[in-house]
Amino acid sequence: MTVDPHTAPSVTDPDLQGQASSWDDFRSTLRAAGVEAVVEAHRAFSRDLARAWDRPIRLLWIDGDHTYAGAKEDIDLFRRHLADGAIVALHDVLHTFEGPIRVFVEELLASDDFGPAGLCGSIGWAQYRPRDSGRWRAARVALGRRAARLIPLVQRGRELRGLAKLRYKLLRALVPHAAPDPAAWVRMVS
Ligand SMILES: C[S@@+](CC[C@H](N)C(=O)[O-])C[C@H]1O[C@@H](n2cnc3c(N)ncnc32)[C@H](O)[C@@H]1O
Repeated sequence: MTVDPHTAPSVTDPDLQGQASSWDDFRSTLRAAGVEAVVEAHRAFSRDLARAWDRPIRLLWIDGDHTYAGAKEDIDLFRRHLADGAIVALHDVLHTFEGPIRVFVEELLASDDFGPAGLCGSIGWAQYRPRDSGRWRAARVALGRRAARLIPLVQRGRELRGLAKLRYKLLRALVPHAAPDPAAWVRMVS
């Protein structure tokens, strides 16, 4: 299932280059990948879809409105539908948008509803397992401490320049974000 209004309503959106919508490009990408018949695509804002949503979610991919209000709204609206063991992943966590990094740190890493967690490049992920998250707590909190140092630098939509930019890059390099070994990752979340 996907949800996107396909009208580039926020600063993080793709450049439509004169087109009114990315809908046709999206459909042809699905067709080219041979998955058009199995993808349930909603042309809407996530908050409008959430109102009537009533199915369990096993993978929640958040890559919509990257403002803090937008990303927080997405996790708030959909977290109640997470199935035990679900993966939540956010794009652009190690980018200078305020939303993804704050939601990753404050809503996922700081919450005992989540067990294993990490970053693969700029994708931040965590597994929803409220019943047995304890053994991952220390690792999750340690990652949160490092990642949280980026937040003051990206708050209020500041454009980073000079020393602030250098500081951001240094602090970002100290946040572990190498791709995990796929087999080890699957064992961890199984
Ligand atoms: C950074 S782009 C990512 C698009 C897509 N996930 C990809 O990787 O190509 C952000 C997308 O979020 C969509 N978007 C912005 N606000 C949204 C909202 N409130 N609900 C759903 N989608 C939204 C935009 O239309 C845009 O297509």
